[in-house]
Amino acid sequence: MLRCLEERNFPYSSLRLLASSRSAGKQLKVKGQTLTVEALGPDSFRNIDLALFSAGGAVSREWAPLAAAAGAVVVDNSSAWRMDSQVPLVVPEVNPEDIGQYKNKGIIANPNCSTIQMVVVLKPLTSLAPLKRVVVSTYQSVSGTGQKAIDELRDQFKAIHEGRPPASAVYPYQIALNLIPQIDVFEENGYTKEEMKMINENSRFLL
Ligand SMILES: NC(=O)c1ccc[n+]([C@@H]2O[C@H](COP(=O)([O-])OP(=O)(O)OC[C@H]3O[C@@H](n4cnc5c(N)ncnc54)[C@H](OP(=O)(O)O)[C@@H]3O)[C@@H](O)[C@H]2O)c1
Repeated sequence: MLRCLEERNFPYSSLRLLASSRSAGKQLKVKGQTLTVEALGPDSFRNIDLALFSAGGAVSREWAPLAAAAGAVVVDNSSAWRMDSQVPLVVPEVNPEDIGQYKNKGIIANPNCSTIQMVVVLKPLTSLAPLKRVVVSTYQSVSGTGQKAIDELRDQFKAIHEGRPPASAVYPYQIALNLIPQIDVFEENGYTKEEMKMINENSRFLL
């Protein structure tokens, strides 16, 4: 996110970095400026116009309404608000006009990363012909599981390089030099949670 803000030269007068107490005090460089990460707390959103959330569904469910009540517009990366009909689910290339609905709850959700790519392609096609069925295969990066998974991948490569057995904690199997043909847990209908996200979220764009 910080790299995106830099690349786009996103206009802001001040930037505040929030995380849990685990990362509080860590220093990060943004646009040549060194900023210190602060622990998320009740006063974090005072005088904040725009709050970019990417800390998982539970954190978003708890803190996004508090940030909105403090006057910030929340843009949420997690799955917490995606299926809430009061919260606009927005992909800028597909439905930028829906952003105005942020006024309902002060929150804008963005879809699962696979849904985003899919609707960018499907939306213009639906204006040419109705869709009956879509078959999707995704090849997902380790980074999609978060920082812990990236660390595990790096540690496993190091272990393999040094002739030690690689340890797995984040994934049920070794991920280095491997591909795991399952993403997230299976639901009762035989699809995984991640697969169902694509199906459910898609319905907010194409129906
Ligand atoms: N929409 C999309 O396209 C998309 C793409 C990728 C990810 N996501 C979603 O975004 C979320 C985060 O994913 P990620 O890959 O960025 O995860 P990540 O690399 O694990 O980073 C999570 C961040 O949240 C912070 N955090 C965790 N618990 C917290 C708490 N209780 N209070 C405050 N901060 C807390 C962490 O801080 P610490 O370092 O202090 O733990 C860390 O900075 C997930 O819900 C994921 O599904 C969405």
